[in-house]
Parts: sequence; C-alpha cells; structure tokens
Amino acid sequence: MHKFLVTGGAGFIGSNIAEALVSKGEEVVVLDDLSTGHEANMESFRSGVTFVNGDIRDAEAAAHALEGVDYVLHQAALASVPRSIEDPVLVNDVNVNGTINMLEQSRLAGVKGFVYAASSSAYGDSEKLPKHEEMLSRPLSPYAVSKLTGEYYCSVFSTVYGLPTLSLRYFNVFGPRQDPASQYAAVVPIFISKLLDGERPTIFGDGEQSRDFTYVSNVVEANLLAARSAGAAGQMVNIACGTRYTLNDLYSRIRSLVGIDIEPLYENPRTGDVKHSQADVERARELFGFSCGVSFEEGLEKTVEWYRSCMCK
Ligand code: NAD
Ligand code: UD1
Repeated sequence: MHKFLVTGGAGFIGSNIAEALVSKGEEVVVLDDLSTGHEANMESFRSGVTFVNGDIRDAEAAAHALEGVDYVLHQAALASVPRSIEDPVLVNDVNVNGTINMLEQSRLAGVKGFVYAASSSAYGDSEKLPKHEEMLSRPLSPYAVSKLTGEYYCSVFSTVYGLPTLSLRYFNVFGPRQDPASQYAAVVPIFISKLLDGERPTIFGDGEQSRDFTYVSNVVEANLLAARSAGAAGQMVNIACGTRYTLNDLYSRIRSLVGIDIEPLYENPRTGDVKHSQADVERARELFGFSCGVSFEEGLEKTVEWYRSCMCK
C-alpha cells in the first residue's frame, strides 16, 4: 500500500482518480480549495480519504498535505479556455504558481513520483494529425500557455533536482461528475444536461471542429500506471483514445442517446478554440502499457446514463 496525494480531488477527474485509489485500498489525501470542485463529488468515498481544504499555491497547506506521501497526482487547476481569456492573470497564478509550489514542496517532501495533468491544448492548431509529442507547441490561449508552462517545470524538476515527474497530456476528458452547471463547463456535460432538460444547446462555429473525446476511466488508469513508471521521468505523454469526432457528430449521438429531437443553435466560433484534436497514443503504450479500455461510444452511453440517474435523484 502507498500514500497518494490527489490535488483537485474534489473536481471531476481528481475525484474519479481518488475513488479508484480508495477502492484499491491505497491511502489517499485530497488537497482542494473547492473553487470549482465540490465536496459532494467525494461523497461515495469520503470516509476513505483525508481531505485538506487548501490552496495549491500555499506552501504550508501543500507541505501539510504531503506528509508521508509517496506519489502526487496533481490535477488541481482552473481548467477552462474561456475562463483564461477572461482572467489570464488568475489562471496563470493558479496553474503556474500552484504547480511550481506543488513541485517544490514535493521535492522537499521526497516523494517518489509526481504526475501532472497536462493538456492537449499545448499543441494548438498544429497542421498535422494525429498530434504526437515531438510536435512543436503552439498554444492558442492563456490556459494552454499555463498548462504548457507546468510541463516545462515538471521536466526541469526531473533534470535539475531528480524528482521523477511525468506530464500526461489529456485530450478532452468526459464522464461522471463533470460539472454541467458552471459557466466554464465542458461541451459533453453541457449538451447532455441541456438535452435532458429539453433545452437547445449551442454549437460554436460550424460544428465541424473535432476532438479526441476520452472517457475518464482511461485517464484514471493512465495516472495509476504513470505514477510507478519512474523510467519515464521528465517526459510528457498523450492520453486519449486516438479517435476524433466532430461536434456535430457528438451532438447527434447525445441527442439520440437522450432520445429527444431538438436542433442545436449555431453561434460564432469561440476565441482561442483549437480546430482539430486527435492524439497519437503510441508513447503512452510504450512507456507504461496504456491502452484505451473504454471507447468514446461506450463512455458516452455510460455518461448519459449517469447524468440521467443523478438528475432523477
Ligand atoms: P475540475 O475543475 O473539475 O477540477 C479541478 C479541481 O481543482 C477542482 O476541484 C478545484 O476546486 C481544484 N482547484 C482549483 N484551483 C485550486 C487551488 N488554487 N487550490 C486547490 N485546488 C484548486 O477540472 P477537471 O476537468 O477535473 O481538470 C483536472 C485537471 O485536468 C486540470 O489540471 C485540467 O487542466 C486538466 N485537464 C482537463 C481536461 C478535461 O478535458 N477536463 C483536459 C486536459 C487537461
Ligand atoms: C478542454 C478542457 C480543457 C482541456 C482541453 C484539452 C474543459 C472545460 N476544458 O478544452 O481543460 O485542457 O480540453 O483537451 O474541460 N463548445 C460548443 N458548445 C458549448 C461548449 C463548447 O460548441 O456549449 C465547443 C467549443 O467551442 C470547442 C469544443 O466544444 O470547440 C470543446 O470545448 P470544451 O469542452 O470547452 O473543451 P476545450 O476548449 O477543447
């Protein structure tokens, strides 16, 4: 048994990771300031974790949460492209200063591994698909810059201080507990919750932009595998299924799963939006045997079911 710190463990991805660790009998600490996450996300496994309500930018809170920790799975961040366009200074502060503080405190605490939730947004509009890790980064939003900066710090903490870090570049993650209500919500929970409520969702642009939508259990699995793959220290790795679906396709699939016949509204494209996104997932397979266990189609079914039942409560 090991001790894990999950930052952002009250959020969407972090709570799914913490739940999986608890179910495997691991010791888990969650550090979260509940700024975009919710204590309710931890309800089903709350008795199995130590919850520290604190800020990742706060050295004391981080040091306290890190006591005796073997592995850090650093998920906490402000995770929205539009939010970063509205408030680039705050997003930089949380995502960059929060990450360097967690790295520094993890180094001082002597942790065995530090896994960082990086983002495919780092690629920006690279002309070639699929996107692989050797491609040049061309961030299109302050959010993308902040997440990329975190990767650079992880890599430098490995080379300079010998802290084993690994950056996982997630591609559009979706699944249970992703918040549909925030003004900065992601597209999958927005489409599902609106259609379940009989409302008309909006598609920004012509809907022909595409994403490598990745069900959350795949990301959880990647974190568990990555934590122990010390041989990969300092690297960044794509985590996705390697498939690509347009927003129009996503919309019609969700509409048919929900069983409602509503046409979407079309509005202007969003500033900072990447056009196409699809991952090359070979490196993750080679480095730590990652594979996409739950496909987009299966994940979408599970997700619609989850929102349907959670809204019936
Ligand atoms: P989320 O908003 O659901 O979770 C983020 C969590 O971090 C929340 O619980 C929030 O309260 C916490 N947090 C924010 N600022 C904090 C601070 N200063 N101190 C402590 N806790 C703080 O978002 P998510 O979708 O679960 O994203 C998790 C991570 O994955 C983020 O780092 C994000 O950049 C990254 N990521 C997400 C996606 C995606 O598609 N959701 C894709 C690529 C990368
Ligand atoms: C998402 C994540 C980001 C992550 C990135 C990389 C969220 C909120 N954002 O950004 O953290 O780093 O993937 O994988 O989880 N759209 C609509 N209608 C809507 C909302 C969105 O058409 O109501 C469109 C957007 O314009 C965009 C696509 O859907 O083209 C995806 O948007 P979104 O879910 O916000 O994700 P990304 O911006 O790709």
